[in-house]
Amino acid sequence: MELNRRTVIASAAAAGIAASALGGTAEAAPGAASHGRRPVKEHFGTLADGTKVYRWSLENGGTALKVLSYGGIVQSLEIPDRHGRRANVSLGFDSLDDYVASSPYFGALIGRYGNRIAKGRFTLDGKTYQLSVNDGDNSLHGGAKGFDKRVWDVEPFVSGSDVGLRLHHTSVDGDMGYPGTLRATVTYTLTRGGDWIIDYEATTDKATVVNLTSHVYWNLAGEGSGSIEDHELQIAAARYTPTDAGLIPTGELAKVAGTPFDFRRAKPVGRDIRAGHPQQVLAKGYDHNWVLDKGITAEPEHIATLRDPASGRTLRIATDQPGLQFYSGNFLDGTLTGTSGRTYRQGDALCLETQHFPDSPNQPAFPSTVLRPGETYRTRTVHRFSA
Ligand code: BGC
Repeated sequence: MELNRRTVIASAAAAGIAASALGGTAEAAPGAASHGRRPVKEHFGTLADGTKVYRWSLENGGTALKVLSYGGIVQSLEIPDRHGRRANVSLGFDSLDDYVASSPYFGALIGRYGNRIAKGRFTLDGKTYQLSVNDGDNSLHGGAKGFDKRVWDVEPFVSGSDVGLRLHHTSVDGDMGYPGTLRATVTYTLTRGGDWIIDYEATTDKATVVNLTSHVYWNLAGEGSGSIEDHELQIAAARYTPTDAGLIPTGELAKVAGTPFDFRRAKPVGRDIRAGHPQQVLAKGYDHNWVLDKGITAEPEHIATLRDPASGRTLRIATDQPGLQFYSGNFLDGTLTGTSGRTYRQGDALCLETQHFPDSPNQPAFPSTVLRPGETYRTRTVHRFSA
């Protein structure tokens, strides 16, 4: 099918990004078919309580997504290489049981609060809330049963040349310790140019904190194919947030200049990963929040590029969020077997989570994550693929 450049640009504009914001073009790679079709639903598995979990398959502009109603999990994300050969570039499992038993958030939606809140505790409007603690003393990714472990209502759509899914979840007042009934909608859109856009929206009926993100583990050579240390990464950030031993930010916005944390120019992930910087020793690699130079923006702006030189597959990320958690898969330890039947070892994937800074509810100097009744939390992240 012929790609109409004007339609591509119109669709990027509809997505609220300047067509140039991500560089490259939004056109599908050579050999990649571009066909937006209505998403298809199939039964994927059944939870212990009898709830059925479905898998939705959708495709557009050479990008193919498989999404579970459980956790809004991206179970598979296929994109072409420079020869048009597609591979699944997102770590995952082929069975629901594996996701339930032991997933380190593979492909999942994260809420209510991405990353850590110290001691699982914060004070808002004079009231202290105790959250579910599930990572040493701290609360990680929303607590013991975060949004990654909820069954979402999924609604497919086709809109112009876009195809997508709207996922809805209501988290009741007090859920995992968080105040307020939070109504969340996350929209996954595949554009005709093959971009994957995530729109997050939430409202509350009591003051609360919220920080939603997506936890795809990327390996642009294909999941299960080995280490991502040769991938080249660029992050538009001159500062990052160093942490204590529990990976809670100390509050400092440290300069990346002269440290292994400097990704302002693209470099292989593995180049400085063994540099022995005390922050890397704490995290067993990279597991930090980068303070994006652009700050919070009204529209998504380009903030990071990941490229696998061997296949040519390239991911450009744009967001309106102020932070990016770059996690180099440090805790993958060879105990999990992925979709293609191969085990995942340390550094076999990396996560690039657009977000507010970790522990913001306890760090008055960080941008606020407070959401009040009458307000709508709304953020967007755009993934552009090319090869
Ligand atoms: C965190 C890591 C954590 C991982 C869970 C990442 O977002 O930064 O510290 O281990 O999620 O697999």
